[in-house]
Amino acid sequence: MATEQQTGDAATDGGPTTGSESLTVTDNRTGQSYELPITDGTVRGMDLRQIKVSEDDFGLMSYDPAFTNTAACRSAITDIDGERGILQHRGYPIEQLCERSSFLEVAYLLIFGELPTGPQLDRWVYDITHHTFVHEDIKQFFEGFRYDAHPMGMLLAGVGALSTFYPDAKQIGDPEERYMAAVRLIAKVPTLAAFSYRHNMGLPYVYPDNDLAFAENFLSMMFKKTEAKYNPDPRLARALDVLFILHADHEQNCSTSAVRGVGSSGVDPYSAVAAGVAALYGPLHGGANEAVLGMLRRIESVDNIPGFLERVKNREEKLMGFGHRVYKNYDPRARIIQQHMDEVFEATEYNSLVEIARELEKQALDDEYFTSRKLYPNVDFYSGIIYEALEIPPGMFTVIFAIPRTAGWVAQWMEMNDDLEKKISRPRQIYTGHRDRDYVPVVEREGPEKIVGPPARRPKRPRRGA
Ligand code: SDX
Repeated sequence: MATEQQTGDAATDGGPTTGSESLTVTDNRTGQSYELPITDGTVRGMDLRQIKVSEDDFGLMSYDPAFTNTAACRSAITDIDGERGILQHRGYPIEQLCERSSFLEVAYLLIFGELPTGPQLDRWVYDITHHTFVHEDIKQFFEGFRYDAHPMGMLLAGVGALSTFYPDAKQIGDPEERYMAAVRLIAKVPTLAAFSYRHNMGLPYVYPDNDLAFAENFLSMMFKKTEAKYNPDPRLARALDVLFILHADHEQNCSTSAVRGVGSSGVDPYSAVAAGVAALYGPLHGGANEAVLGMLRRIESVDNIPGFLERVKNREEKLMGFGHRVYKNYDPRARIIQQHMDEVFEATEYNSLVEIARELEKQALDDEYFTSRKLYPNVDFYSGIIYEALEIPPGMFTVIFAIPRTAGWVAQWMEMNDDLEKKISRPRQIYTGHRDRDYVPVVEREGPEKIVGPPARRPKRPRRGA
């Protein structure tokens, strides 16, 4: 991504600059030239509006569906170098954070910008540990879901519901309220996540255990049965904490953009984060980890991989867990996940899907169709295999993604609210519809007999003897 630092270097490294960071454009419709300033490797969209063919012309806009080449904000939280496969949080490489930090410490770093001192970390961990309970009414709320409701649907509703329990969070400019919302969201999302799993399993809810650290407590709320104390294998708890670090934040991805967009209306952070949960639910985003497991199961054997890849190349299938809008190299998170897989399999059943995944990756990366499109494994390609080893069902994989990403969403929501250029998000459009049509009464309307929508349901046959 273009950064102030890089642009500054470009200007001084003798690169082909004329000294003035600007773009000169000529409008061939009028022969008029314009000077557009370049800052941080970008031109401002609003600078295009001066380019007109007449006084009453609205002026030019940029057209960039899905914002593939549009910087929507300035951010100092996460930086990705897609070509070199580099990911840093507040300047710290993801590899070092995974090796030496913890998820709660990384959450602090994302939100407050610096690694915490000892006392700061102790206070942060204490606050989060002591806000993991949800209001008892949430349990009744969850009872309203079908037994087989998708956990992401329950989490989406649960996070939105939290906004009704903490109405003071609407004071989005109040530092105290912001801090408490950050603590409550990071602390309570795992509880809601575990409750959704227990609801699906028909098991009683397990309350948070304040003696346990963040990842251990989540595993306890998920899997504790009749034992007095749930004690997870430390290797599994550590692997889960590393997975939480890997999923904590990732620049302006789809769900973070949803949080920023919804948050720009001034809504409370719970409602803004609920929008992030909704976006993450999609199979092209956070739902990919669940889709990867299904794909590996459908492939079933390494012998079927060539045929599957042919179907992908014929666009009959997508290679889930591959490709990325930013990474045009190996996703560094996928590499780190692979390093932890062996530790997890030391403590659990070996998962034969690993063979298929590794062979699938090998054959895809030997195939010009994928390498020419710079399609490499992303964070979702191997994560599901670890979750399965932790006995987490596929329906919960995206929920597990949402738990740590809550810290990233909160950090981005705070940064957006502190941005001096903050305005309500409201893009423009290219209008392609009709204009200036007169209303026609229904009796005078002609038109195709085809009725839109599914065929009308036939009235039920009268019940026998009715
Ligand atoms: C996440 O943005 C983030 O940071 C997201 C994330 C995060 O941490 O927040 O990293 C998490 O969402 C990871 C991505 C998880 N999704 C998947 O694994 C689903 C499969 N991947 C694709 O759907 C796709 O790669 C995307 C959505 C991830 C990226 O899509 P883009 O950037 O819009 O790329 P594209 O669709 O323009 O693809 C470019 C070419 C196309 O070929 P052509 O039409 O030019 O011939 O690559 C092809 C695509 O058809 N392609 C794929 C493919 N992904 C892209 N072909 C087969 N399988 C794929 N997975």
